[in-house]
Amino acid sequence: IPVDRFDLVIFGGTGDLARRKILPGLYRRFLAGQMPEGSRIIGAARTEMDREAFRNFVAEALDEFVAPGKREAAVVARFLEGLDYVAIDARGEGGWDALAGLMRKDVVRAFYFSVAPALFGDIAERLHQFGIADGDSRIVVEKPFGRDRDSARKLNAVLARHFDETQIYRIDHYLGKETVQNLMAVRFANILFEPLWNAQYVDHVQITVAETVGVGGRGSYYDKSGAMRDMVQNHLMQLLCLIAMEPPNRFEPDAVRDEKLKVIRALDPVAPEHIVRGQYQAGQGQPGYLADAENPASRTESYIALKVQISNWRWKGTPFYLRTGKRLRARASEIAITFKEPPHSIFEQEEGWKENVLVIRLQPNEGINLKVMIKEPGPGGMRLTQVPLDMSFAEALGEEGADIPDAYERLIMDVIRGNQTLFMRGDEVEAAWAWTDPIIAAWEARGDRPKPYDAGTSGPEDALMLLHRDGRRWREIRE
Ligand code: BG6
Repeated sequence: IPVDRFDLVIFGGTGDLARRKILPGLYRRFLAGQMPEGSRIIGAARTEMDREAFRNFVAEALDEFVAPGKREAAVVARFLEGLDYVAIDARGEGGWDALAGLMRKDVVRAFYFSVAPALFGDIAERLHQFGIADGDSRIVVEKPFGRDRDSARKLNAVLARHFDETQIYRIDHYLGKETVQNLMAVRFANILFEPLWNAQYVDHVQITVAETVGVGGRGSYYDKSGAMRDMVQNHLMQLLCLIAMEPPNRFEPDAVRDEKLKVIRALDPVAPEHIVRGQYQAGQGQPGYLADAENPASRTESYIALKVQISNWRWKGTPFYLRTGKRLRARASEIAITFKEPPHSIFEQEEGWKENVLVIRLQPNEGINLKVMIKEPGPGGMRLTQVPLDMSFAEALGEEGADIPDAYERLIMDVIRGNQTLFMRGDEVEAAWAWTDPIIAAWEARGDRPKPYDAGTSGPEDALMLLHRDGRRWREIRE
């Protein structure tokens, strides 16, 4: 889908996210021919620097975060030509006139707030005051979108003062991941799965987002959030919604977001015995969580597992087990849907009988794997065995499949196109916090301490019990 010519301002243009994700992502879209001639990217930040210095900064970012094979000198040079920079004072008046002077009226205007949420209000106010944004302009805001429902509501109110909901793009970069969108394709473009997609046929669902990295370097942010706020309230919640939601009548922003919201509202409160929190210990030559967080008394969790239940007709009785953590055995994110056993077995074999499992691998090695029972080859009678119908997207799609765009690339282009389908609506974010808040409040009131776990493992032992008690087990975490 073509993209209109645009002026994109990145507030926080010299920050880490801009350097790692936003600017390299824009470059890759440029390389792919998706950035129309004459589009411009304007960095805006507190640092005093001129256009040349910003271009150098971006050139270095591309060197670091774009694969060498994609960095043709001539293309990079053309990309850099479209860059500009303004030093601004978000809280004062400095630089805003200059920015206003740069912006064109006849192109799409987008403003990426890659800054601390405390500045959202000030920036929105200045954009308005200096006539830089109008009714067609779009603003993009990053997580964390608040730290509870109250603060999220305030942020929504601050943005709503100058922008309509249709102009606000709240990023959850998980929704930009190719395989996450594939979740919807698998469900709604095939007839195979949907009839079985309910509590009658699904035994349980496991959602795993495992990481090997620790929180070193960003401990001061992380220690105030923990895995529940940093990952579950947003990324895992979005995954859960896409699996659990009813089919929207169209693949359109509000149709999709209405259905997700209904799921969030149907989530049961989670009892303390259905939550396991963990903190990684020093190991594998690396410091433990307390050292990384620079807070020896921290009770923040770097791992969490939860058993979540949805009270609606489709899902009542089918638990969704969620887990995510840092410094685990492997970097592996997947969704596994385990179906129930057939109602009656016509075969005599009692051992080795296994349920069908549909695994959607989000990263790495994006793909789909369906475990089915077949007959073991050979004349030895009717012996059954489970085999995977395994499809790696990279293999199935050849080069195209191997070249999966980064989540940010897709999402930024959606902003320019004016497509909000993969962005969170204000009410959705607030509802997600409304579910999260009492869970956190309860463990804080109890003075709960996270369980220690060794780096490079699958997390605290207690998390195993969460499933054992229900006669189930976690899938192994592996790449
Ligand atoms: C971010 C979290 O939103 O997502 C990080 O703040 C986390 O803690 C990251 O590491 C994971 O993203 P990805 O794309 O690497 O799975």
